[in-house]
Amino acid sequence: MRTIGIVAVLGWLTACLTAHAQTSTPALPFTSANIHLGVSSCGGSSCHGALEPWPNSTVQQNEFVTWQEKDPHAKAYKTLMSAESKRIAKNLGLNNAYEAGICLDCHADNVPEARRAKGFQITDGVGCESCHGGAVEWLGVHVSGQADHAKNVAAGLFPTEQPLARAKLCLSCHLGDKDRVISHRIMGAGHPRLAFELDTYTMTQPAHFRIDADYTKRKGMPDHIKTWAIGQAVAVDSVMEAMLDPKRNQDGIFPELVFFDCHSCHHPMSNVRWEARDGHGIGPGVPRLNDANLIMLAALLDKADPAMAQQLRARTKALHQASQKGHEATLTAARSLRELITPVINKLSAMRFESNDLRGLMSMLIERGQKGDYVDYAAAEQATMALSSVLDAMKLAKIISEPQYKDLSGALNQAYAAVEKDEAYSPKQFMTALQAFSAVMTRT
Ligand code: HEC
Ligand code: HEC
Ligand code: HEC
Ligand code: HEC
Repeated sequence: MRTIGIVAVLGWLTACLTAHAQTSTPALPFTSANIHLGVSSCGGSSCHGALEPWPNSTVQQNEFVTWQEKDPHAKAYKTLMSAESKRIAKNLGLNNAYEAGICLDCHADNVPEARRAKGFQITDGVGCESCHGGAVEWLGVHVSGQADHAKNVAAGLFPTEQPLARAKLCLSCHLGDKDRVISHRIMGAGHPRLAFELDTYTMTQPAHFRIDADYTKRKGMPDHIKTWAIGQAVAVDSVMEAMLDPKRNQDGIFPELVFFDCHSCHHPMSNVRWEARDGHGIGPGVPRLNDANLIMLAALLDKADPAMAQQLRARTKALHQASQKGHEATLTAARSLRELITPVINKLSAMRFESNDLRGLMSMLIERGQKGDYVDYAAAEQATMALSSVLDAMKLAKIISEPQYKDLSGALNQAYAAVEKDEAYSPKQFMTALQAFSAVMTRT
């Protein structure tokens, strides 16, 4: 889970001058009307299937090879043939996983037959068009030699470079959405827990693109802190949307268990770790909703817009409290919390992160931990990825030197160690790691 980090971050020092709020994004590749050609149509050796990056091309041209050899998405279909999948399928009463729509929707490019051209193969798993959109409509423009990125996007290429669009895309599978539902029943059958952080995962996929002068000229400089923040906000929005959707918000029990902090129920009884937390104000022995993304979002907003941060915390706490009261109260609180998210996304989209903001953001993340926000595993896991992202950003912005970065990374490794095994998680061990990191940070 260790962050590979932020490759080029200098961007937000200068970029975002043109930033504007945007909350609408094009239809996702899965649901748009576009027809999908299959990976083979992108992966030719004179297209994106070069063995090595081309020296004089704007893009790497070896994206197919990176995807095929290093990207778990290329193996997503094959996973459905594994013994683990076989067991999950059996437990769910499915004939097999590799033909079940419920599995294929996330583990392959499972568009309807009518949107599959000749050459399309479901066995390709999560291929190029699962993220970049069905290519029939934009391929002509794309290979014409006349196209630029804007023209490709106008013809139907999905704008993966935009944080908001990317967040919706990735989270549609990594958290689920109305078309791809993940429930506690699937988890109970043996599916692994889903964890996601947009900026970290974009880099660990691994990235098949390189952020260089040419990339920035074509697409603008990526803002990694903004990517992280919008990823958190969209995750909250998706969960609230699901919680308000009668088709998804209960499976016998309301609310559906998948919205909860898994570890509030699942960890060995000998690992006694409950601690009071002001953020929810709920006593021991009660399952809690998973608020890790909300905690991150509030920490970020503490500096950008303290009033908004306070409102977010108040409504989060109200949702926790409502979950103890019943169905209607929970829905009302979820609705009220969700109303805040569009303004939050607008705010973040219009924001511009300066190098000075990084230290403040780092302090805020540490301070929230010291105030007890990370006693639950899910929050500690998100906080660790966040600290790591900001640290890498500081290095690239040259706020800290190489040796200082080394020291800090060493200290942060203790936090990584504390979240490595979720079932063995100990808030005390995590707090000790956070204090050690904070001490190194203070003298840096
Ligand atoms: C169509 C669904 C789908 C979409 C869209 C999608 N993913 Fe995935 N992703 C998966 C599946 C399924 C796996 C697990 C593959 C396996 O191991 O079989 C996965 C695995 C990953 C992993 C590896 C996780 C680990 O624990 O090793 C990363 C990183 C990742 N995805 C990042 C992303 C990013 C970033 C995006 C958006 C740009 C994205 N994914 C979009 C379905 C998707
Ligand atoms: C909402 C999307 C979604 C659905 C539905 C879904 N998966 Fe997954 N699955 C994922 C993602 C994302 C991962 C990667 C998790 C990670 O590592 O972060 C994954 C991981 C897995 C893994 C572990 C793979 C590994 O490399 O360790 C197995 C096995 C699996 N899924 C099987 C299934 C089966 C069987 C079904 C159908 C019953 C299914 N999945 C349905 C999204 C989904
Ligand atoms: C899981 C989602 C995902 C999959 C699958 C995927 N990509 Fe990408 N791709 C991205 C993201 C995210 C970016 C970076 C944002 C951007 O520049 O648009 C990107 C960027 C690119 C770029 C632009 C690089 C640049 O310098 O502008 C190319 C070309 C590309 N991908 C080709 C491919 C090809 C070919 C495949 C299939 C072999 C593929 N991608 C599969 C998500 C994906
Ligand atoms: C309110 C308590 C509660 C929450 C929250 C909860 N679960 Fe469960 N989970 C259960 C119960 C009860 C079972 C059934 C245990 C059994 O059959 O022995 C179960 C079963 C499971 C199993 C199968 C265990 C087995 O022995 O085969 C898995 C895996 C699982 N849950 C994962 C998760 C994940 C991931 C989350 C978070 C998204 C989660 N659970 C949230 C109560 C919970």
